[in-house]
Amino acid sequence: MTNVAVVGAQWGDEGKGKIVDWLSERADVVVRFQGGHNAGHTLVIDGTTYKLSLLPSGVVRSGKLSIIGNGVVLDPWALFREIEGLREQGVAVTPENLLIAENAALILPLHSKLDLLREEARGPAKIGTTGRGIGPAYEDKVARRAIRVCDLTDLPSLSERVDALLLHHNALLRGLGAPEIDRQELLHALIEITPRLLPFVANTWQRLDAARRRGDRILFEGAQGLMLDVDHGTYPYVTSSNTVSGQAAVGSGLGVGSVGYVLGITKAYTTRVGSGPFPTELQDEVGRLLGERGREFGVVTGRPRRCGWFDATLVRQTVKVGGIDGIALTKLDVLDGFESLKVCTGYRIHGEAFDHLPASPAAQAAAEPIYETLEGWSESTRGARSWAQLPATAVKYVRRIEELIETPVALLSTSPEREDTILVHDPFAAR
Ligand code: IMP
Repeated sequence: MTNVAVVGAQWGDEGKGKIVDWLSERADVVVRFQGGHNAGHTLVIDGTTYKLSLLPSGVVRSGKLSIIGNGVVLDPWALFREIEGLREQGVAVTPENLLIAENAALILPLHSKLDLLREEARGPAKIGTTGRGIGPAYEDKVARRAIRVCDLTDLPSLSERVDALLLHHNALLRGLGAPEIDRQELLHALIEITPRLLPFVANTWQRLDAARRRGDRILFEGAQGLMLDVDHGTYPYVTSSNTVSGQAAVGSGLGVGSVGYVLGITKAYTTRVGSGPFPTELQDEVGRLLGERGREFGVVTGRPRRCGWFDATLVRQTVKVGGIDGIALTKLDVLDGFESLKVCTGYRIHGEAFDHLPASPAAQAAAEPIYETLEGWSESTRGARSWAQLPATAVKYVRRIEELIETPVALLSTSPEREDTILVHDPFAAR
C-alpha cells in the first residue's frame, strides 16, 4: 500500500472534492499542503452536500485525522466560520480530528483587503483572484515578515512581528491612498482568536512521520490546479502557491519519497475561473451548454466558469510537470448528447505548431487549438458504475484521452454521488 497525492490537472474545479472523499474513506490521515480558503471542495455524502474551503475533506468522515500543513496559508477567522458551518450540519471538528501546523503562515484581514485593492488598481488587467488574501499572505511568508501560528503563543514577539509587518503594509496602503491598519486593533484580534486556535496546533511533521512509520495511509489533498501553479501555470494568471505534487512533501514536512502515487483530477472538458489564457475556450452556445449542464459556478465566489473543449495538450503538460501517475476523469456525463466532441491535440502560435503551451504570456494568449474531432454519444453515462454501462463511443473518447495525455485513467466519475465511480485501478494499491 502507498500514500496518494491528489492534484488538479487543469485550472482547478476538476471535481477533486468527490474523489478526495472517495479516497479518504480508505485513508487514515488527510493533509492539505498548499493554498488556503480560496479552494472550494464540494462533497455529496448520502444526499447531504458539504462545501469545504480550508478544511481537509477528511473532516466529514469519522475516525480520520485531518491536517492543515505548513504549506497552507491559514485565515483563522475563516477556519472557525467553516467549523461552525459544519457543526450546524452535525459534523464535529475537534483537536481529535484536526491538527494545524505550528509553522503555517496566517492570512490576516489586511491581506484580503490588499488583495481586493490591488485587483481594483489593476483594472482590466486584473487576475481575477478569489479576494481571500492568498497572494499577499504568501508574499509576506516569502518576505519573512508573516505572522505564523507559533507566533501567537509569544506575546512580546507577536507584538514586534506585528510592528514589522505594519511598517511594510502601512507604507503600501498609504501609496494606494487607502486607510492604514491600526496596530492595536490587529493585535487585539489576534489575541482574541488565539485561545480558539491553540488546541488544534501541533508539530504536524512529526505526527505525519509517526503515521508514515506506523504504515498509516496518508492522502495529500491538493487545491486549485496545476495550470494555476506559480511556476508552471499560466503566469501571472495563477495562484501564489505551487500546486504540483512536489509541494505535497514541502507543504506537509514529509520527504518526497512519502508522497507515493499522484492522481491528477481531470475534467472531461475544460473550465477556468478568473482571467488568463484558455486556448480551447468556447464563447458560443456549446460553451454555454457545458457551463449549464456542468453547473459551472465557483464554490467560493459564485462566479460563472469559462468553459471549453478538453485540452489534451495542456493535460499532457501538467501530467509531466506534476508527476501524475494516473488520472481521475470526472464529469463525463456532461458530454452526453453531443453529436461530436473536439479534443485539442496541439497549438498553432503565429503559424508555428507547438506540442505544449510555452511560458510566455504573449505566446499563450496567441495559442490557437488544433482539434481532433471524435464521435459523441446519445445515451446517458450518468451514474455508470462499470465500463460495460458506458456507450462504446464514450469508452473510445476516454481511451483516446489516455493515449493523448500518455497516462492511464485510474478512476472515472459519472455523477456527484460518490458511488457513481468506475475504479480502474486502486491508487492506494498502485506500488
Ligand atoms: P487566488 O488564489 O485567490 O490568488 O486567485 C488566483 C487565480 O487562481 C484566480 O484566477 C482564481 O480564480 C484562481 N483560483 C484560486 N483558487 C481556485 C480554486 O479553488 N479553483 C479554481 N480556481 C481558483
